[in-house]
This record gives sequence, C-alpha cells and structure tokens, in this order.
Amino acid sequence: MLKVGLVGIGFMGRGHLDIYMQLEEEGFPVKLVAICDVDKDKFEGKFLPGNLDVGNLKYDFSKYNLYTDYDEMLEKEDLDYIDIALPTYLHAEATIKALNKGIHVLCEKPMALNTEECQAMIDAAKANNKKLMIAQCLRFWPEYEYLKKCVDSKEYGKVVSAYFFRGGTTPRWSYENWLLNKEKSGGVLLDQHIHDVDVINWLFGTPKQVSTVGRNVFPGSGYDAVSTNYIYDDMAVNAQDDWTINSKDFGFAMTFRVNFEKGTLIYEGGKLTVYPHDGKSFVPEL
Ligand SMILES: NC(=O)c1ccc[n+]([C@@H]2O[C@H](COP(=O)([O-])OP(=O)(O)OC[C@H]3O[C@@H](n4cnc5c(N)ncnc54)[C@H](O)[C@@H]3O)[C@@H](O)[C@H]2O)c1
Repeated sequence: MLKVGLVGIGFMGRGHLDIYMQLEEEGFPVKLVAICDVDKDKFEGKFLPGNLDVGNLKYDFSKYNLYTDYDEMLEKEDLDYIDIALPTYLHAEATIKALNKGIHVLCEKPMALNTEECQAMIDAAKANNKKLMIAQCLRFWPEYEYLKKCVDSKEYGKVVSAYFFRGGTTPRWSYENWLLNKEKSGGVLLDQHIHDVDVINWLFGTPKQVSTVGRNVFPGSGYDAVSTNYIYDDMAVNAQDDWTINSKDFGFAMTFRVNFEKGTLIYEGGKLTVYPHDGKSFVPEL
C-alpha cells in the first residue's frame, strides 16, 4: 500500500483529492494519509471554483492527518510519496525537500519556473535515487494517446499539419492571485501552454525552432494569450492558448486538429473524430 501526502488543496489539489478517494473506493493499493495546506479554511471546505469541474465532493477531513506546515508533515509522517499541487513558484523547493528526505515525488506541471530549478529537481531525484514525475496529464488522456498511436504507427501516413488549442476563463481563484503574477506562475505560457509544448515534443520530437507571439491583457500577468509556431522540416505545427475567454458559460476547452497524408483527427468538445480521406468518418472507442 502506497502512503501519500498531498500538499496544496486548491483547485487542482482538490482534483487529486477526489481521485485518491475514488482509487481507495475502487481498491487500488494507494492511500492518502496526510494533507497539507497553509490555508486552514480549506479544511473547513471553503473553496473557490475553478474553470473545470473538479473538487465537488463532500470531504471528510477527519480521515486524514492535517497540516498547515509542510516541514512538519515531512518530519512527522512516514510517506512513500508526496503529491505536490502547490503554486508553481513552490514546486522546486517542496520537491527537493521531499526527495532529500527519501520520499518519491509526483509534482504538478509546470515542473518549475526556469531550467535551473528544473535541473536542481532532477539532480535531487538522482542523488537520492527516488522517482520524480511531473503531472503532464495529456500523456495519459485517451484522445491524446490515440493521436500518439496514429503518429507512431503512420496508419494515416505522415503528419502534414497540426494545431492545438487550450484556453478559457481567466484564473481568478488562486491563492493570493499567484496565477496572474508572472513571477510566480510564468503566465499562460508556462501555466497552460506547457501542456501542448509537452504534447508536441512527445509526438514529434524537439522542433528545430520555435517562435511565439504573446499578448498581455492583465497588469503583471505576463502573457495571457499566445500563439506558437513549432518549426519542423516537413510539418506545419501551431499551438495557441488564451485565458481571456471570459464568457460566463465558456469554462475551458482543449482541442486539436492533426492532418495526416491519408486522414485527419479532430478533437473538439470532448469528442475525437477520425476522418480517413478514403472512407467514412468515425468516433473511435476509447
Ligand atoms: N494538470 C493540470 O491540468 C492542472 C490544472 C490546474 C492547475 N495545475 C497546477 O496545479 C498547481 C496548483 O494550481 P491551483 O490552480 O490548484 O492553485 P490554487 O491557488 O488554487 O491552489 C494552491 C493551494 O496551495 C496552498 N498553498 C500555498 N502556499 C502553500 C504553502 N507554502 N504550503 C502549503 N500550502 C500552500 C494554497 O492555500 C492553495 O490551497 C499549479 O502548479 C498549477 O499549474 C495543473
């Protein structure tokens, strides 16, 4: 049985909490034993809604050992791994502390704010011979896994062009508004676009060059809308992100359109459709 400590139960940490409850119910050998959040109001169920439907369950916090101090949790608990859903500016420090205590780490994306911090995290994992995993969740998202399978198998030939999008309402729920502070979140480029950066590298390898056009809307937030061209020899690849789509009922969207020599995959509105160029379109069972 893996014993887990979860740090940060804001918007995404609550998503993780829901999943631990589900995994326990379904009998998986993983048990959430401790939770840490600096804001003790969270343990009284005082949450702000985010742009996705997570964290809607009723929580019984009496089941867990609760902490408002991360160091104390590391000191007192006997954990197999720490799940870090803290604001991005705290990822490196919290990760390295856990690894140095001999505890494996699952850390939310983006890994950290710059390559120096990322390298220090990798070095700590290696030095302590512990696992460090970054929660780049699209690699486990069925529609993206299907896309990866088509790219690798060349079932529809080679990729000709690809377009990815994510975006939605402005994130205004975060702890001390860290998400709209460029120094703490890296803006939309690091906070959201990173998912498509990861997918594009995973699918197609490292591009020869990248070129991004960014637009700032909110003071101090960095870029709030970006469009990036990924330069490869024989494919036209572009990804966009925009967290200023503030219509009341929009929420959040992620989409892709990847065109192969002999077919096109379009993921939109939560549905993947395959359009073979020589036959009828279909929705694959995933
Ligand atoms: N995988 C995804 O698709 C996805 C989606 C959203 C967010 N995220 C990532 O999850 C992380 C958290 O984002 P969020 O939207 O949940 O932010 P949030 O502000 O809603 O939550 C952060 C939580 O950390 C707590 N916290 C702050 N400082 C702390 C400290 N020193 N010790 C203990 N707790 C502390 C806050 O009280 C808050 O509850 C970010 O890195 C974000 O990029 C990932």
